[in-house]
Amino acid sequence: MSKEISQTGALTVPKFLAKKKSGEKISMITAYDFTMAKLFDEAGVDSILIGDSLGMVIQGRENTLGVSLDQMIYHCHCVAMGAKRAHLIGDMPFMSYQASKEDAVRSAGKLLKKGKVHGVKMEGGEEIAEIVAAVVKVGIPVMGHVGLMPQHVQQMGGYKVQGREEKAAKKILNDAKAIANAGAYSLVLEGIPLELAQKITDTIDIPTIGIGSGPHCDGQVLVCYDLLGMYSEFKPKFVKHFGNLGVAIHAAMKDYIREVKEGTYPDEDHSFKER
Ligand code: KIV
Repeated sequence: MSKEISQTGALTVPKFLAKKKSGEKISMITAYDFTMAKLFDEAGVDSILIGDSLGMVIQGRENTLGVSLDQMIYHCHCVAMGAKRAHLIGDMPFMSYQASKEDAVRSAGKLLKKGKVHGVKMEGGEEIAEIVAAVVKVGIPVMGHVGLMPQHVQQMGGYKVQGREEKAAKKILNDAKAIANAGAYSLVLEGIPLELAQKITDTIDIPTIGIGSGPHCDGQVLVCYDLLGMYSEFKPKFVKHFGNLGVAIHAAMKDYIREVKEGTYPDEDHSFKER
């Protein structure tokens, strides 16, 4: 059996919800492993999302569709080992919940039991509202995700801003209401115009978490490698590099390689002696 993880001190669902009422913005970041989770948790981030974006940034795939439930459980558990107080959300991977309520309840249950997260996230609008309600009914907190939904990449024909036309904006607003009414405790708004994100945020009672959806959401989430300047495959307009770790890692590796080649590392200071 794996080491029990203490959940004491974690930011709970009611406290998460209370932030919308008090007007305190929610900070959220993705993480996929122990070391990053510990660093982010110690820095004071409110919430960590173990996103299926790991399919791209960890596994190097071109989209998130190939990520399995077992892989999500593994990464959720790694993060839970490192985070002591942040609110942890595990992404439900593609086809672990869409086919039936039973699939959804079982998959969500596994993420909570084995992955040690506090809630799960599902992509979809009105069409998955009953599935969301079924998972909430068994006591599992659900975060929704509408707008640009990466698991719908084939249908969208790429990662494009959603809801620019009136009809599409109305659909996203209805989707948001349907997911909130189904009992979700929070909702990710990805890749929609800032005006629509503001309207949704003002309309629903649960906190909205924006990514590429402007400043009016109740909180923000970014993929950690984007924020840290480590993912160079492409940089969407909304991404801000708060650090330049890609460059720092490159420079450190260059120094290491040079010192190994010239024999200056390891020196005596970095070696053990008999006595
Ligand atoms: O998988 C992920 O990291 C996400 C965020 C981008 C919201 O869903």
